Amino acid sequence: MMIKNICCIGAGYVGGPTMSVIASKCPEIRVNVVDLNEDRIKKWNDENVDNIPIYEPGLSDIVKECRDKNLFFSTNVEQAISDADMIFISVNTPTKTYGVGKGMAADLKYIELCARQIASVATNDKIIVEKSTLPVRTAESLKAILDNTGNGVKFDILSNPEFLAEGTAVDDLLTPDRVLIGGESSERGLAAQKALVEVYAHWVPEDRILTTNVWSSELSKLTANAFLAQRVSSINALSELCEVTEADVKEVARAIGTDSRIGPKFLNASVGFGGSCFQKDILNLVYIAKSYGLHEVADYWEQVIIMNDHQKRRFAKKIVTRLFNTVSGKKICLLGWAFKKDTNDTRESAAIYVSDYLLNEHAEVHVYDPKVKRDQIISDLLVLGNFSKEELEERVFTYEDALSCANQAHAVAIMTEWDEFKELDWKHVYDEMFKPAFLFDGRMLLNHDEMTGIGFQMYTLGKG
Ligand code: UDX
Ligand code: ADP
Repeated sequence: MMIKNICCIGAGYVGGPTMSVIASKCPEIRVNVVDLNEDRIKKWNDENVDNIPIYEPGLSDIVKECRDKNLFFSTNVEQAISDADMIFISVNTPTKTYGVGKGMAADLKYIELCARQIASVATNDKIIVEKSTLPVRTAESLKAILDNTGNGVKFDILSNPEFLAEGTAVDDLLTPDRVLIGGESSERGLAAQKALVEVYAHWVPEDRILTTNVWSSELSKLTANAFLAQRVSSINALSELCEVTEADVKEVARAIGTDSRIGPKFLNASVGFGGSCFQKDILNLVYIAKSYGLHEVADYWEQVIIMNDHQKRRFAKKIVTRLFNTVSGKKICLLGWAFKKDTNDTRESAAIYVSDYLLNEHAEVHVYDPKVKRDQIISDLLVLGNFSKEELEERVFTYEDALSCANQAHAVAIMTEWDEFKELDWKHVYDEMFKPAFLFDGRMLLNHDEMTGIGFQMYTLGKG
């Protein structure tokens, strides 16, 4: 089966970049990316490609190359479904905030809505690809909805989880470690799997395209994220121990990372992992384990989240205790709001929780992030529900550059590892701050001794 027309439902952090790369590598395939969010689609279509809604290095160049040639962004979901041979579902699957599984299970209402919409519109056979991260066995529910349309159309469901990391999405898509495609072992299932393999084979070596059954594929995505998050929580747990034993977590990470069985990646202690995936996927894993009565398995993975919450709280608390146990009325400058560098995504960013803690301690929070706008910062804090919009507008200040943000601050805290913070004129920052000038490095970005030399009262995460 040759794929000529792809529809992707959901023009977010996964759908947008993934479809742009597919369009760029498969010029003979028409790729329609659709979303209900009109504003988002308008931005994807903005004449100035620098205004596309997602910041990812290299992405705007690809969009410029393909847009309106074989890559289209639109809100006409029905038309795109109707025209497609293959439909990727890339909608959001947030943690449920209500009812059964509240705070744990993935909310599949957007997925179900998509399935119902596909079922009502489709008039010919289609391959449906789960791109969003989903609980294991979601394909079963999708199939149940799709197969009961009664109009004779046949759907084949594939699981093709996305492993791209934000900030490096384009590189990850261009040279993936692997592409995973789960499908059924029936004749139709294998043909569907082959059709998707052929799309990726335009640029991914075939030995990197792994095929499995649907359930293994769904569970592998949750597992990969759980393992990665676990590494961060493991090194973060050690960072606290380092601080009381005069060990240095960077040195410990280097020492263990040279063991080829452990490897050097994902061993950077931090103020806590964020992002849309890690927490959500582990909670989801915990929920699934619990629902099968596997309580020890659930407790084991839940500890990764408990450690992460502890790390964010501990960092915020450190700021308060170092500043003579009070930050009331003090100006605390936070450098960085995104959950990691090179993205404008702020979902579950540690900066949100640290700010909330500081606001609760009556601090004034001053923020600068090179890619995150004030509206986003206020709305992230609003979601936690501890402060009204009016209070936040009064007590949260935002800036267009780091130096103004740090001016006259009692403390500066590095929340995101943006490269520009390394290059900052730290002597100038020090001169303009209240003394003693406290600097909290939540990303181990700066040279501790150099900063102490300038005069800062320096706290570097994981350094005794
Ligand atoms: C993650 C997975 O890496 C990716 O494969 C999956 O598709 C989606 O989830 P992402 O959340 O975009 O990607 O970013 P990632 O680089 O994994 O970082 C997640 C969080 O962990 C960030 O807050 C980051 O700062 C933090 N982190 C990462 C650390 O604190 N230390 C590390 O050593 C690595
Ligand atoms: P991710 O990081 O998984 O890509 P995002 O929240 O960035 O998540 O993107 C998901 C997108 O899916 C959002 O832009 C949302 O508007 C869109 N979406 C959700 N449900 C539907 C739907 N039924 N039809 C079309 N778009 C949808």
